[in-house]
Amino acid sequence: MIANITDVKTFWDSNPCQSNLSDKKDRKEYYKEITYKRYHGREWHVPIVAKFKEFKYRDVLEIGCGFATDGLEFAKNGARYVGIDLTPKAIELAKERFELFNVKGTFINVNAEETLPFPDNSFDHIYSFGVIMASPHPEYIVEQMYRVLRPGGTFTVMLYNRSSINYYIEIMFLRKLFRRILYPKCMPRLLSKVTGFDEWKLNEHRRIMREKGKLTKEEWISINTDGPLCPLMKVYNRREAAELFKKFNDVKQDIWEFNSEHWSFIGKMIPTKVERAIGRIWGWHRMIYGKKPT
Ligand SMILES: C[S@@+](CC[C@H](N)C(=O)[O-])C[C@H]1O[C@@H](n2cnc3c(N)ncnc32)[C@H](O)[C@@H]1O
Repeated sequence: MIANITDVKTFWDSNPCQSNLSDKKDRKEYYKEITYKRYHGREWHVPIVAKFKEFKYRDVLEIGCGFATDGLEFAKNGARYVGIDLTPKAIELAKERFELFNVKGTFINVNAEETLPFPDNSFDHIYSFGVIMASPHPEYIVEQMYRVLRPGGTFTVMLYNRSSINYYIEIMFLRKLFRRILYPKCMPRLLSKVTGFDEWKLNEHRRIMREKGKLTKEEWISINTDGPLCPLMKVYNRREAAELFKKFNDVKQDIWEFNSEHWSFIGKMIPTKVERAIGRIWGWHRMIYGKKPT
């Protein structure tokens, strides 16, 4: 059964994206550490693809801003920034973050699949990182993007990449092959000790397997992307992404991000340079850029 928008909202509201990257008590230090880890870890490519400095005095809308790690960079670099998100928690944290860093921005709690509270042709640029494929009707969101972008306005979107090592080798092959290993009760703990993978995630996978038995392909993809409790996630290859954005002009795509942490001790042996090079060919982040026709 495909998850609905309430399932999506409930999940992200209780798991704000990357909120576990820091456990610092001081809120400003907490956000600083998250920003540092995002841009110096496996998502080192975000500043390159987002081009934060190119939108000074421009109206920028972020769809699915989460707690606005990237939003803060757009705003600090002079963009007139508006962040929207499905969950009240993300909006509350994003507002707190902007206040702590004394940066101006507007935040609205809204479902981007519905008519957005902006007139047609309101924004110069739309940014959305890891969001559209987490929603039941990505095509509705893209329709809204088209409506609220100004003619000639641009967008930068990240969707998960079907044509990737993560999808074909990890999710559709290795994880399927090894899931039965989790049947004995002791296995999540044992496997976690051997591989370093999170024990709670292995426990959840075991529970789902025992309670639900056979999953649909959509369900399998969803629980193997942003954690076992993630209700909905889709993946896109070049053709599928091009189809989604077919109304736009100059649509270009490129690929980034290989997460070596998924590869336990083998991953630790991969040099950063090699990891990044693999990401550019078979990575998990499919970036899509385009323009609304003038
Ligand atoms: C994977 S997180 C990404 C957050 C942020 N863009 C980042 O990169 O850290 C997905 C976010 O999309 C939001 N989201 C999912 N569906 C949405 C929708 N239909 N409308 C608005 N936001 C949505 C979720 O609430 C969540 O904050």
